[in-house]
Amino acid sequence: MNILAIESSCDETACSIVKDGVKELSSVVSSSAKLHEETGGVVPEVAARKQVEYIVPVLDKCLQSFVGENRDSFLQFGKGIDAIAVTVGPGLIGSLLVGVEAAKTLALAWHKPLIPVNHLVGHIYANYLSPTESSQGEPWRSPELPAVVLIVSGGHTDLVLMKDHGKFEYLGGTIDDAAGEAFDKTARLLGLSKYLGGVELSKLAATCTNNTLIGTLPRPLINKNDFDFSFSGLKTAVKYLIQKNSDIPKEVVACEFENAVCDVLVKKTMKAVKKHKVKTLMLGGGVAANTQLRNRLKQESSSIGINIHIPPLRLCGDNAIYIASAAYFNNVSKPLKDIEANPGLSIMDIYP
Ligand code: KG4
Ligand code: ZN
Repeated sequence: MNILAIESSCDETACSIVKDGVKELSSVVSSSAKLHEETGGVVPEVAARKQVEYIVPVLDKCLQSFVGENRDSFLQFGKGIDAIAVTVGPGLIGSLLVGVEAAKTLALAWHKPLIPVNHLVGHIYANYLSPTESSQGEPWRSPELPAVVLIVSGGHTDLVLMKDHGKFEYLGGTIDDAAGEAFDKTARLLGLSKYLGGVELSKLAATCTNNTLIGTLPRPLINKNDFDFSFSGLKTAVKYLIQKNSDIPKEVVACEFENAVCDVLVKKTMKAVKKHKVKTLMLGGGVAANTQLRNRLKQESSSIGINIHIPPLRLCGDNAIYIASAAYFNNVSKPLKDIEANPGLSIMDIYP
């Protein structure tokens, strides 16, 4: 079954075609992130206008690489595509609407079913894609369920028990800033980047050879007996730390900050794994690209003998490949009139 998916929840415009939920056939991503760097954060209307500008070229390029020469007859009937999938939320309403309306139009013109997908659930399915030929490493196996999933992105930090496809129990999440948001805001405080500075902060942290601040920053809620997170105080603590001690090297602050975030994420995630006695741990979202987080969770998982699945770096950030995969495993096709963009969708709303 070939699913054509569209993702447009924030500042990426993406389109992919995936076979049977696991094999990537074609994929294109275009991003307006550079533009938001200038304004120091995403301006929703600017992001939405860019979605409008990119959606047709991105779709066209994705379809072109799928059909090759049979373009005309393909475009008329969507031959070879069995269903369309689209991210319906959470995200920015203006951005979401562009993808949802494009998907509805294609579904209507080609007489194909349309499958709505929750973006957060999508991140989980980055673990279900079979590796491309160029990938190396251990033999690939599809994640076994039940599993504990940590979704860490720019807008969300959620711990979820995934009992089966489409069956989720929310264990906890951030009560204020998401982990990625804390990375980005701290990167801004350190003057590294005005928008999406998580990668830069992490690269700088890796250059620190002597963390003279060890244990100085708070590890919020680390010993609390639940699965909630809070990262806004941590960012504020960094602010006061550098205000009082302007001579501390930036890489030391970056290192201590990254350690603090990872300490909390690792401790609570492993606590959830042990409490629910699962044999599988999965990671998803942009912050799943963080090297320290990946390595520490791998180490912890191997020490207690459970399987861990972490998406390859290219599938951590937003794209439509995992949206197609999520649609295949959670095939909830609905009448077009019932499919709507919903910016406030939560992880539990898989059947929006
Ligand atoms: O999932 P994503 O691409 O977009 C959302 O759905 O939010 O996540 C983006 C977030 C940003 O906050 C970005 O700074 C963070 O992921 N991020 C990282 C790293 N790579 C991306 N944070 C820490 N370390 C990284 N290596
Ligand atoms: Zn995302």
